[in-house]
Amino acid sequence: MYELLRGPLATASFIIFFLGIIYQIIRFFTLTRKYQPVSRINGFTRTDKKQNKPSPAIQKLAKRKGNVMGMEPNMAVITTIFHILVIVTPVFLLSHNILILESWGFSLPSFSEAFSDFLTLLVLAFGVFFLYRRVILAKVRAVSSLSDYLTFLVVFLPFITGFIAYHQFFAYKYMIILHMLTGEIMLVCLPFSKLVHMLYFFLNRFFLVSEYNFGPGGRVW
Ligand code: HEM
Ligand code: HEM
Repeated sequence: MYELLRGPLATASFIIFFLGIIYQIIRFFTLTRKYQPVSRINGFTRTDKKQNKPSPAIQKLAKRKGNVMGMEPNMAVITTIFHILVIVTPVFLLSHNILILESWGFSLPSFSEAFSDFLTLLVLAFGVFFLYRRVILAKVRAVSSLSDYLTFLVVFLPFITGFIAYHQFFAYKYMIILHMLTGEIMLVCLPFSKLVHMLYFFLNRFFLVSEYNFGPGGRVW
């Protein structure tokens, strides 16, 4: 089992991960089309901006929401730190880079083991917080479904099992197998589950018509 997870399944999960990302980018561009302003089609302007101006109260709210910190400044900071750690921790982990070097002949720089262990603990602490928030806060619970809890497991199981395996707390042989299995499941799920938001966040924000999109044009679904 170890050899299988360490060899062919690890390679397969990385290939699925990268091909999945390419597939999702192509899918985005085939499902969307260039936005054609109505004015360009029939000669009328699309909206009369003056007439459609929202009330001052709405404008004030929009200004607050449009701020980079949004309506939930604490969550904005917490989620930004979490997202940096969830990517940086496994990528710059010594054990991972040793395996990558052995398999593919290159490696990235690594943090010290103690520092990576600390970052892992931080990620786990964020996990406890996110789960607590999802269960306790009515407004978050109301929009949570089974898939959110499954996504939660997919994201945090590799960190939990990696942490237990590194410390050899118990059943090391099984824990490392479980770690590799959950890590590979996560890689495969990234392009094909809610986790694809790591891609669509940027595609939606910068390519769909909105106040953030690049250039004068933009795309619509
Ligand atoms: C391709 C699949 C993966 C393999 C083969 C793998 C392998 C390993 C190995 C061998 C260790 C060291 C355990 C020890 O010291 O004995 C480890 C630790 C760890 N792995 Fe992975 N891993 C994989 C995927 C992942 C993923 C996807 C994540 C998270 C996104 C992850 C997060 C961690 C963490 C956080 C630790 C160390 C925890 C600590 O030092 O406290 N791994 N991994
Ligand atoms: C770099 C690309 C990414 C961006 C821009 C991004 C952005 C976001 C945003 C905007 C949210 C919702 C807002 C919030 O949490 O307050 C979110 C939630 C989440 N993201 Fe990401 N994400 C990215 C990558 C990832 C990756 C790689 C993972 C996991 C491996 C991940 C796991 C999660 C989880 C678990 C949540 C839900 C947290 C909760 O329960 O509240 N994200 N992400």
